[in-house]
Amino acid sequence: MARATLGIQGIHSLDLAVRQAEPWLSFLTRGFGFQHVASTTGRDVEATGTRRRLLRCGDIRIVLAEAIHGGSEIRSYLERHPEGISTVRFRVDDAEMAETMLLERHATPTGLLRTEKFDNTTWQETAIATPLGIVNFAFVQHDDSDSNLMPGMEAIGQFDKSHNPAGLVGVDHLTANIRTMMPVLAFFEHVLGFERFWDVSFHTEDIRPGVGTGLKSVVMWDESSGVKLATNEPLRPRYHASQVNACLDANRGPGIHHFAFNVNDILTAVDVALDADVSLLPMPPAYYADLPKRIVAQGIKGLATPVEELARRNILLDGDATGHLLQAFCRDQSKQHEDAGPLVIELTQRSGAKGFGEGNFRALFEAMTKEARA
Ligand SMILES: [Fe+2]
Repeated sequence: MARATLGIQGIHSLDLAVRQAEPWLSFLTRGFGFQHVASTTGRDVEATGTRRRLLRCGDIRIVLAEAIHGGSEIRSYLERHPEGISTVRFRVDDAEMAETMLLERHATPTGLLRTEKFDNTTWQETAIATPLGIVNFAFVQHDDSDSNLMPGMEAIGQFDKSHNPAGLVGVDHLTANIRTMMPVLAFFEHVLGFERFWDVSFHTEDIRPGVGTGLKSVVMWDESSGVKLATNEPLRPRYHASQVNACLDANRGPGIHHFAFNVNDILTAVDVALDADVSLLPMPPAYYADLPKRIVAQGIKGLATPVEELARRNILLDGDATGHLLQAFCRDQSKQHEDAGPLVIELTQRSGAKGFGEGNFRALFEAMTKEARA
């Protein structure tokens, strides 16, 4: 039987631990239309050893957390990992109730439930350790769900809600990489009360005998809020050569590998990103040569965009008779600047399809193989 819900309403924010905020600030504001809406005050920076900048676009909030001096949580994250997501913060109905339930389920709090008052609002937050290395999950209750402030911050200018050139809506899912997913799945199920939503196992041994590699991915979700958390692990044969292990090496341990933004119109979103020189993962031409056949074979319905328009922007398509899913992946940020971890941003436009692009795993590998042999 499903466990009682923690009262999760959605993802409030992601903390991105950074050595230097500037490259990320530019990447997120120019590439995706985020606005810098608030920063921590000098007094807060002094007290916490961390300077935090809140970026917002649509209902997505990213906190760039920069370590100013030793002893801060962010500094200790950056001593172990390259820049990456250090905290995933969920919005909950009632932080005290969520904490009570988490404790009953043997979660491990990383501190006391804290209550802060600012801007005539009350903020209550608690955080727990996770099996994803030193990534924390936090649970926050804030009276003003549309606020552009967090504790210790002051506003920077005015947030212009209508400025959303890439049409970002929210976070579609987060994906973690780990050597073995079972502790993570058990944690999601027994501590967070999530249920299994979708899974895929993929290996290229069949098309690249002797050198193929693979991964397994399982998506768990909180049905009431729709929050989805995916976890990847490497598959044998050639477990060690799996791209999941390559990411674990680059991140020096498990962590959040990518997060996906839901967009209204992926063509516009990709064009905004490309205009700002964001690099997208290039897809082999063979992927698009095969696409018209796949659309027929999978019975993908409702695609109004010509395949050439997708190909020009490296957008992937998957789906079935119930609808379709369009995806684009930014290049791994560790290839873009030296302090960044192997973090990837995905753009997702869903038109009925609920899956995670299973057809793309296979089609992408097959297309790459075909191209290699041509
Ligand atoms: Fe994804």
